[in-house]
Amino acid sequence: MNNKRPETMERITTPALAEKFIAEQIEAIRAQVGDKKVLLALSGGVDSSVVAALLIKAIGKQLVCVHVNHGLMRKGESEQVIEVFQNQLDANLIYIDATDRFLDLLAGVDEPEAKRKIIGGEFIKVFDEEARKLEGISFLAQGTIYPDILESDGVKAHHNVGGLPEDMQFELVEPVRLLFKDEVRVVGTALGLPASMVNRQPFPGPGLGVRCLGAITRDRLHALREADAILREEFDNAGLTGKVWQFFTVVPDMRATGVRDGKRAWDWPVIIRAVNTVDAMSATVPEIDWNVLQKITNRILAEVPGVCRVCYDLTPKPIGTIEWE
Ligand code: XMP
Repeated sequence: MNNKRPETMERITTPALAEKFIAEQIEAIRAQVGDKKVLLALSGGVDSSVVAALLIKAIGKQLVCVHVNHGLMRKGESEQVIEVFQNQLDANLIYIDATDRFLDLLAGVDEPEAKRKIIGGEFIKVFDEEARKLEGISFLAQGTIYPDILESDGVKAHHNVGGLPEDMQFELVEPVRLLFKDEVRVVGTALGLPASMVNRQPFPGPGLGVRCLGAITRDRLHALREADAILREEFDNAGLTGKVWQFFTVVPDMRATGVRDGKRAWDWPVIIRAVNTVDAMSATVPEIDWNVLQKITNRILAEVPGVCRVCYDLTPKPIGTIEWE
C-alpha cells in the first residue's frame, strides 16, 4: 500500500475536489475488497466516521461497524453515532454498551497512566470479542491519516489502544491515509456527515476518564458529563465553537464547601478548561466573555447535582498540559 503522499497530490480544499477523491476511493475500495467483509471500529471521531461513510458508499452492508461505548463518552455522542450511521446511513452497526465493564475495572484506580492502560486494553478486548463472533471478515478498515504515518511509522496512534492480537490480523483498508485533517473534514462534509461530527474538537481516546480526576466514580462522572454538555451548549450559543480549539470540563476528586438552600453543602468543583493551539505542543488560554462564563457557571450550579463551585483554568501550556491528567 502506498504510504507516501506524492508531491504532486493536490490538497483537497473544495467540495469538487472532495467529490473527485470520493469517486476515486470508491473504485479503489471496491477493487481491493471485492465481495468480502470489512470491519471498522467506529468511535464517532472525525477520521473513523469519514472512513465509515466512504465505505458505506462503496460497499454498503459489506462493512460492519462496531461502536464500543466505554461509558466515558460525552453526552449524546454514542446516540449520534447510532442516529447518523444506523438510522440515516443504514449501516451495518453493532453497538456495544460496555460501560459497566470499564467502570468496574476502573473502580479505585487513581493513577492517570494506569487508567489509560485499562481503558485502552479493555477497548481492544471488547472489540476483539466482537470481531471473533463475526464470520467471514477479511479486512480491517482504519481511520489512519497522514500525520499518523508521519509521526508514528504508519501505526494509527489509536488512543493508547495498542493493536489487535496476533491471530486477528486482517488486511488493512485505509482510504484517508494520505490526507491531512482539514482534508478529511472537507471529504466528510461532501459525504453528508453532520457539521458537529466533521468539525468535532479533539477528544482523547480515554475520553472523560482522564477528566474525572483520580479514581472515577459514577456520580462524579455524571456531574462531569452534564457540566461538559452545558459548557458545549453555551460555547455554541456564544459562537465560540470552531473558534476555540478545545474546551471541556474537569471534576477533581475533592470537595469544597458551599451554601445551598440555607444549608451547608460539601460538593465538587467543576473546572472549565479552554485552549487555543496550533499543534497541541503549546497552548494559550482564550479570554472568554465574562457574561458567557457567568451563564455557564450559573447553569452548572443550578442544573448539575453535587457541584457547588465553578473555576476557569488560566494556565497556559507549558507549564500545564491541556488535559489535567
Ligand atoms: P496534553 O494534555 O498532553 O494534550 O497537553 C495534548 C492533546 O492530546 C490530547 N490527549 C490525548 N489524546 N489519548 C488521546 O487520544 C490520550 O491519552 C490523550 N491525552 C491527551 C489532548 O486532549 C490534547 O488535545
